[in-house]
Amino acid sequence: VKIRIDRKSPTPIYLQIAGSLRETILAGGLPAGRKLPPSRRLAGSLGVNRSTVVQAYDLLWSEGLLESRVGSGTVVRAPSTANDAELVEQEVRELGRVIGRSDVISLAGGLPSPDLYPLETLGRIASEVLSTGGGELLQWCEAAGYPPLRNLFAGQIPGVSPKEILVLPGSTQGLYLLSRALLEPGDAVVVESPTYLGALHVFGAAGARILGVPVDEQGMRIDMLDSLLGRARPKLIYTQPSYHNPSGFSLPLERRRALLDLACRHRVPVVEDDAYSRLVYEGEDLPSLKALDTHDHVIYLSTFTKTLCPGLRIGFLAAPAPVIERLAPEKYLIDLFTNTLAQAVIFEFLHRGHLEAHLARVREEYRRRRDVLSAALRESCPQLEFGVPGGGYFIWARLPRGVRARDLLREALGEGVSFMFGDVFYPDGRGQDRIRLSFPSQTPGNLEDGARRLGAALRRLAKKKRKGKTASDEEIALRPVL
Ligand SMILES: Cc1ncc(COP(=O)(O)O)c(C=O)c1O
Repeated sequence: VKIRIDRKSPTPIYLQIAGSLRETILAGGLPAGRKLPPSRRLAGSLGVNRSTVVQAYDLLWSEGLLESRVGSGTVVRAPSTANDAELVEQEVRELGRVIGRSDVISLAGGLPSPDLYPLETLGRIASEVLSTGGGELLQWCEAAGYPPLRNLFAGQIPGVSPKEILVLPGSTQGLYLLSRALLEPGDAVVVESPTYLGALHVFGAAGARILGVPVDEQGMRIDMLDSLLGRARPKLIYTQPSYHNPSGFSLPLERRRALLDLACRHRVPVVEDDAYSRLVYEGEDLPSLKALDTHDHVIYLSTFTKTLCPGLRIGFLAAPAPVIERLAPEKYLIDLFTNTLAQAVIFEFLHRGHLEAHLARVREEYRRRRDVLSAALRESCPQLEFGVPGGGYFIWARLPRGVRARDLLREALGEGVSFMFGDVFYPDGRGQDRIRLSFPSQTPGNLEDGARRLGAALRRLAKKKRKGKTASDEEIALRPVL
């Protein structure tokens, strides 16, 4: 590969290196899977600092053109395809079977706690709406949703009218409708890296090129977004600004504003997936991107899956009316309309003020569970590095050097505890050294026990490694299980 460097040019050298490599990759001069020289060697041959090459590789990685593979270093990445998504989905389904065992304490699934569900209130409301709304309620409903519920959702967001609301059976359908309406195979989509697995599945199945922007403790690295938007010309940016799944991080106000500015400047719509913002355990409540948006650039998704329960299947999308008019007929094709009884139950539950009372209860309990799990991890797994999230569902932990999450999961299942391994949340196979631990759905006693079991698994794995059983032996042994 010819890499041209012009030391007199005002363009920084790392951008020049990245530019040459990008051009070659996009022209097919470096096929998928081709290994790039280690940064130190390339730096030596170009006569630049190693950090300059690392910066160039990082940029191309964030654009989705490169990936790092354990054992092979940095390689050119194949564009993601529906097959990739199918493979991951199959793998996660199989994982679900293994980790769903009754003798295993699951810290894997991002589920609320059924012992906190307001069953009595929901039961009373369901019976009331059936006896008063009766046959009418079980009739046909318009695709955009039950009108009283659309009005109520619109009232929750400043400046949004009922015409700008589409009621959904969960926010995942919103992602699917958006991908049908806005994406063609090969289109670029920008996501946080890591991000919600379901979003990777939906965009992957649409044949999108999924480009990841790294996150730090303050969410998406907005400083890396500008050049990516300029070059990749994505069709949308998908983001979770509040208590992000899987990292737990939240975007501070300045970054929210900067993200909106960039999206407007590059004319890219932002899809804001807001599943967790009401689950704040401390710190301030930040405005959603939708509330900050003055240019109709944000498509907002909300759901009751995390705040109430997943089984009622109610969420909604808020977007400018022309977007709703485009999505509603797509929805009509797949399910005609969202379950009217569930919409009416949610409407009454909200209208009578029950959600706020329920949220106060779950916030208190989930905060306690978060504190129990983080203290127990510090005690039983001092090798893990993690921050304590200010809200949401997850502790996102880094494993000690050289330990791979999938190897650890095998040991952990043997000890009777499970978690999600990190790489499924990345568009490019990174995150092999990360695990996601979910705290809401386990009792404090189980969380302590789970942390102890995880500590035992970490020690067992370290012992095996000392005895010379390599990670790749473990990986091969794991494959038939997962
Ligand atoms: C960020 C995010 N969005 C959406 C969902 C799923 O939501 P729904 O059940 O509303 O489809 C989840 C659940 O894991 C999530 O973490």
